[in-house]
Amino acid sequence: MKLKKVIAIAMASAMVFGLAACGNSAAPAATETPAEEAPAEAPAEEEAAPAEEAEAPAEEAAAEDAAAAADAAGAGGNIGVCIYKFDDAFMTTYRNALQEILEGKGYTVTFMDGKNDQAEQNNQINNFIAQQVDALIINPVMTSAADQIIATVKDAGVPTVLINREPTADQMSAYDKLVYVGCDARQSGTMQGELILDTENKGDINGDGKVSYIMIQGDPENIDAQYRTEFSVKALTDAGMEVEELDLQRGDWDRNKGQEIAQNDLAKFGDDIEVVFCNNDDMAIGALQAIQAAGRKVNEDIYLVGVDALDAALNEVAAGNMTGTVLNDAQGQAEGAVQAMEDLLGGKTYAAGEQSIYVDYVKVTPDNVADFQ
Ligand code: GAL
Repeated sequence: MKLKKVIAIAMASAMVFGLAACGNSAAPAATETPAEEAPAEAPAEEEAAPAEEAEAPAEEAAAEDAAAAADAAGAGGNIGVCIYKFDDAFMTTYRNALQEILEGKGYTVTFMDGKNDQAEQNNQINNFIAQQVDALIINPVMTSAADQIIATVKDAGVPTVLINREPTADQMSAYDKLVYVGCDARQSGTMQGELILDTENKGDINGDGKVSYIMIQGDPENIDAQYRTEFSVKALTDAGMEVEELDLQRGDWDRNKGQEIAQNDLAKFGDDIEVVFCNNDDMAIGALQAIQAAGRKVNEDIYLVGVDALDAALNEVAAGNMTGTVLNDAQGQAEGAVQAMEDLLGGKTYAAGEQSIYVDYVKVTPDNVADFQ
């Protein structure tokens, strides 16, 4: 993405972020506090010359608190980030955005690759806690591990931002220094359905009165995969379209798996396939390779949609090789996660039911794709 566009999108998402912050209206004030209280002094210098200051103990304690807050608020705070696996196209974009923002603010940040293994990630979280990081940002490997992760960070008292895989409100309510920043995956599914409804024949290319599709799903344990699968089709049926599911298979967010599933389905169902729904762009890029190898032409005899707005997918939308995609705003989510982290470091706590902060998805079509490139 070009910088200008990124900034424009980031500003738009910052506005959305502010509005969608589930009633957390105290957020901006809480962020400002540590920076104001703790201006220039490096904590190390203060510690090196305590005798000169001759302050009353209470004042000393206050000064130390302020120094600690400054430390944590950008003047050298240590942040541990756990990513479910580095080898994921969208999470790589997200990781790069987080790194740029955190390092730009002066934090020392360490990223760990969970390698899609929850046990491995649990060790990484424990190690970060042993190293006394100031805050954690965690993209869980398994949504089902949320209870255990939350219990661990709560026990250690480490402020934590969860990203990308949303636990339930009930699970999060166990710890008030915990917040989730992400998107509502129902919205992305609905937008995928709308991209198909916006075509000239609403997805019914052969005019037989129904939309025949294949669904290439992400990791089915992931709520994003579940909701995108459900709500893309629901948008069609809500609009009165009849649908026929020719196949649904898990592609685990992976390009090669997307290619294999599409290739097999194209061999099996041939021209009966009118729409290829992919839960993400990486699988859609794989599916596109199979579609082209089968001699089919997107937007003429088959439709193809993804989610994420990866650079590669934006290029294919612009070239007419994908019907559309949905921006999964990595930059906006990374900014939101860092903001929430700084709010926590500034002492903010989150009440039950107010621990999810959402960034909006955006529909991407050939008409507006240039805005995202
Ligand atoms: C989704 C994203 C996928 C994949 C997944 C990982 O939000 O669309 O591409 O990165 O997160 O949990």
